[in-house]
Amino acid sequence: MKKIAIIGSTGSIGTQTLDIVRNNKDLKVVALAAGSNVELLEQQAREFLPDIIGIWSEDKAGKLRHALSEFNIRVVSGMEGLIEIAAMSASDILVTAIVGMIGIRPTVEAIKAGKDIALANKETLVTAGHIIMPLAKEHGVKILPVDSEHSAIFQCIHGEESIGNKISRLLITASGGPFRGKDKAYLEHVTVEDALKHPNWSMGKKITIDSATLVNKGLEVIEARWLFDVMPENIEVVIQPQSIIHSMVEFEDGSVKAQLGTPDMKLPIQYALFYPQRRYLAGDRLDFKALSEIIIDKPDRETFKGLDFAYNALEAGGSMPTVFNAANERAVALFLEGRIKFLDIYNIIDACMKNHKVIEHPSLSDIFETEKNVYEYINQMVRR
Ligand SMILES: NC(=O)c1ccc[n+]([C@@H]2O[C@H](COP(=O)([O-])OP(=O)(O)OC[C@H]3O[C@@H](n4cnc5c(N)ncnc54)[C@H](OP(=O)(O)O)[C@@H]3O)[C@@H](O)[C@H]2O)c1
Repeated sequence: MKKIAIIGSTGSIGTQTLDIVRNNKDLKVVALAAGSNVELLEQQAREFLPDIIGIWSEDKAGKLRHALSEFNIRVVSGMEGLIEIAAMSASDILVTAIVGMIGIRPTVEAIKAGKDIALANKETLVTAGHIIMPLAKEHGVKILPVDSEHSAIFQCIHGEESIGNKISRLLITASGGPFRGKDKAYLEHVTVEDALKHPNWSMGKKITIDSATLVNKGLEVIEARWLFDVMPENIEVVIQPQSIIHSMVEFEDGSVKAQLGTPDMKLPIQYALFYPQRRYLAGDRLDFKALSEIIIDKPDRETFKGLDFAYNALEAGGSMPTVFNAANERAVALFLEGRIKFLDIYNIIDACMKNHKVIEHPSLSDIFETEKNVYEYINQMVRR
């Protein structure tokens, strides 16, 4: 029996992880945590009977304690609660299905407690990859990618790196999002609703907007740099609009391996949970006869600046990826609230990165201080 804890259990990745648990009787949920969706968390707690659940506000935690009083389930709240769940002794693996930099501390504490990490929360690696990867090595824990592109790479390198075969290039695929082929003039007037219509994937709101700006792909380039220890100049992004090729790896002899499949996040989640084994997964299979062609294209980096910001942040190094990530998190939240326009997301990231003086080798407290400063800077900009 593998015991799993999930932070972000009420979101897109969290609920799909629970679907996998429903289909695999040798998985047991021991902890769940959510931000605000108290109704769904209560429902999940009643179904999976974990030892402990967490919700961000203490007020909501109180309501849950009352609602679940007939069960022996401990209810915790806030960052302390998230950390308690992440590091709890009863779990074998933590699924980080939480969105944003809030995932950093629980991930660090889980690693210190010796838990393997099924990592969906890319923001943690983007901002603190230089801390997380060595820490995982030190504690002998696995960082198992859930992001479909990184899972694809992880599947392609299985059996290669252990015998010393070196990666020469990573080719990360991108769908191009809902605005592929559109120009700047078009993007001036797009609405939140337009940006939330992803052509292939059904995901949480933040990552869906990130896909529309190509910031998501930029975050993935940084994530790949840390996960696979590949330098940015050897990481390329290609547009693959059908989301069938989930990413590719080129080896030293020029051979390219790709992982293909239908766009279904359950596959990478399940692969992370049972790695290195594969299990049966119900769902559509690829029908090559029905595919007239597989398109591969170049990204439009001039219009969709998310990628260039990421490469620039990697080149500047230190705390700059944190600025890129934090500025984007805040800008996307403002866009979703209807307070800024789509293209302002780029303007905000750009202004924050230009305003920042890089801290080399930032500690966790430097990272959180940088995040706070970015937020303050954006607040001043928005008030003006
Ligand atoms: N969705 C995908 O297909 C996909 C693919 C690859 C990578 N990812 C990555 O996976 C992560 C999650 O994405 P998602 O699409 O699943 O997001 P989502 O649907 O928005 O879900 C986010 C989850 O985080 C929880 N959460 C937010 N703030 C919290 C807090 N303060 N304390 C505890 N829980 C909190 C939310 O709880 P409430 O809803 O209760 O507030 C929800 O359960 C992101 O880093 C994303 O980049 C997602």
